Amino acid sequence: MERKIQLKESDIPRQWYNLGADLPTPLLPPLGPDGKPIGPEMLAPVFPMNLIEQEVSTERWIDIPEEILDILYRWRPTPLKRAVYLERHLKTPAHIYYKDESYSPPGSHKPNTAVAQAWYNKQFGIKKLTTETGAGQWGSALAFACKLLGLECKVYMVRISFDQKPFRKIMMQVWGANCVASPSSETNAGRKVLAEIPDTPGSLGIAISEAIEEAVTDKAGETRYSLGSVLNHVLLHQTIVGLEAKKQLASVGEKLPDIVIGCAGGGSNFAGLSFPFVAEKIDGAEITIIPVEPEACPTMTRGPFAYDFGDLACTTPLLAMFSLGHAFIPPPIHAGGLRYHGMAPLICQAIVEGLMKPRAYHQIKCYKAALTWAETEGGITAPETSHAIAAVIDEAVKAKEEGKEKVILFNYSGHGLMDLTGYDAYLSGKLTDYELPTEDLEKYTAALKDLPAAEMRKTGKW
Ligand SMILES: Cc1ncc(COP(=O)(O)O)c(C=O)c1O
Repeated sequence: MERKIQLKESDIPRQWYNLGADLPTPLLPPLGPDGKPIGPEMLAPVFPMNLIEQEVSTERWIDIPEEILDILYRWRPTPLKRAVYLERHLKTPAHIYYKDESYSPPGSHKPNTAVAQAWYNKQFGIKKLTTETGAGQWGSALAFACKLLGLECKVYMVRISFDQKPFRKIMMQVWGANCVASPSSETNAGRKVLAEIPDTPGSLGIAISEAIEEAVTDKAGETRYSLGSVLNHVLLHQTIVGLEAKKQLASVGEKLPDIVIGCAGGGSNFAGLSFPFVAEKIDGAEITIIPVEPEACPTMTRGPFAYDFGDLACTTPLLAMFSLGHAFIPPPIHAGGLRYHGMAPLICQAIVEGLMKPRAYHQIKCYKAALTWAETEGGITAPETSHAIAAVIDEAVKAKEEGKEKVILFNYSGHGLMDLTGYDAYLSGKLTDYELPTEDLEKYTAALKDLPAAEMRKTGKW
């Protein structure tokens, strides 16, 4: 039995997979402020046209430029590993495999799209990228990519994470980026929030508003905004993860997985691993596909399917997604990357279609799972990834109870070596669970009633 399944560089996937081409019921279109579908040109002040083309593409396969592959070879293909030590500990007949995305220099899956986005922006003549970051994984990934490609980078980091994770800021600085706490006094959006709630922990929605504002107000037109999750082109760039995994499983004679799991904040690592398997499911394979989110930010499990803005200042187009409302301020849980109010429209439509079954977990359960992982497989996982591990453990225990040799595949989206404050709180018994109170859910989602309704369309096959 192979514990580390390597893929040769020459076997790296040379195309990304676009689930949008295969979804049985297509996505609802993004809408402008007037409630009408937007055209690609409306996104042009925010993103370069070559990425907008990917965003709206209906092609199934999109070539990965050779220059991007040349950068990715620094850490790709990543190993697929068999978690035999966890299997033994659980005494499960399940085969547990994980794609180790913590191998990238910044330590997560995020550089897969950061490198691609920086490259396409550079091709388009852009000199500077702005972005937001929650846990800091995305900000450090974009800083890394911009450094390699010679672009300037400005990161608005959600205040709570800025305070909890100072080392992420230093990583961004090492890669030459300018990182400020959000809300900041540098933008109108930030100043407005600070005037209303001076001690706010911040949110991704606020940080996105600040980063977009800086990009669109650059008079020279040389700045664009870059998003680390949610959008179609971001998920597209991550599919290299699932495409590699498919080849790796086949190379050791393993069947298609019975269960595919990933944590989901905006959905990019989960989508990257799962979409090539969603394609198999659409073609008839029986695969249970599970995105996992925190109970404190239960977008997919408790949010309504609605048209909503991606940011607090309502500057983005309206996207059809499960949402807790764009004004949602999540409780300060440690999985900073899982605190977004919305979810990738491609994932949401797949959930509506019945192709995926989301679930939510409390953070104490996830830290317990992370400790089991550290004691068996050895790695110290990101708090986001621990949500996936908790689900893997539940499914492996279930396989044991059922006496079934199931194949479970999950995305090990990042290491947690910069996230030790959460472990400290857990180990000293100070960690608490937060369940979003129904009255808060109703308060934040009330504003959605004034926006266009999103119809839940499905074929009924799944
Ligand atoms: C390690 C890790 N995993 C998962 C996520 C969640 O993001 P996404 O849902 O886009 O994969 C983040 C976001 O910061 C992260 O840092």
